[in-house]
Amino acid sequence: MLSHSLSKTDQSVISLDLFNDLPPSPEAAQMPLAAGSVLLRGFAQSMDAELLRAIDAVIVQAPLRHMQTPGGYTMSVAATSCGSLGWVSDSTGYRYAALDPSSRRPWPAMPACFLDLAQRAAAQAGYDNFVPESCLVNTYTPGAKLSLHQDKDEKDLTAPIVSVSLGLPAVFLFGGAKRSDKPQRYRLLHGDVVVWGGPSRLAYHGVLQLADGEHALLGRRRINLTFRRVLV
Ligand code: SIN
Ligand code: FE2
Repeated sequence: MLSHSLSKTDQSVISLDLFNDLPPSPEAAQMPLAAGSVLLRGFAQSMDAELLRAIDAVIVQAPLRHMQTPGGYTMSVAATSCGSLGWVSDSTGYRYAALDPSSRRPWPAMPACFLDLAQRAAAQAGYDNFVPESCLVNTYTPGAKLSLHQDKDEKDLTAPIVSVSLGLPAVFLFGGAKRSDKPQRYRLLHGDVVVWGGPSRLAYHGVLQLADGEHALLGRRRINLTFRRVLV
């Protein structure tokens, strides 16, 4: 059999491709994580090439950077943004800004395929009329991680968070409203989308150190797109 000569990574990519050829079964591909939140398995997979082209175009205009946290730590994740507001962190705090602090220019416009994906995923999770102004593009190389945190710099907490995973698999931590609530662990794969809102809008979440690997499309990387409605 062909798979004898393939690495573990190649095999999982091949089995995902085979899975993708099956008739769509949205119910089977939806996994509730908590009240108000759901994991949509493979929801973005069929548009991965289009998303990657759009990501490349965003990164050309607003290059990835490792931001500083107010606590003086340099984030291991490299990030940029698109949309009318971008999430920024520096020694003075976290905030949304209309201008990229590196270039003092507006962030790149949100690509149409980003908005389309975010709105369809939100609707699938039960959140209609999701209009995010901001998409944070986080890139992880092996070893990068994101500590447990809440997304709470947004004024509108009625809108959900839509989070798209591309590339290498990651372990996603999803906890409760308190930092001390023990988080569940989920393996997020290429094309998975997590939506959380309503009762779990302020759930603590994070990503464990990315394990090394090679993804067929993205190489040694994971990219996460986080869509947020900021203004009320
Ligand atoms: C985030 O919390 O901003 C990103 C989560 C992820 O990378 O999956
Ligand atoms: Fe987050």
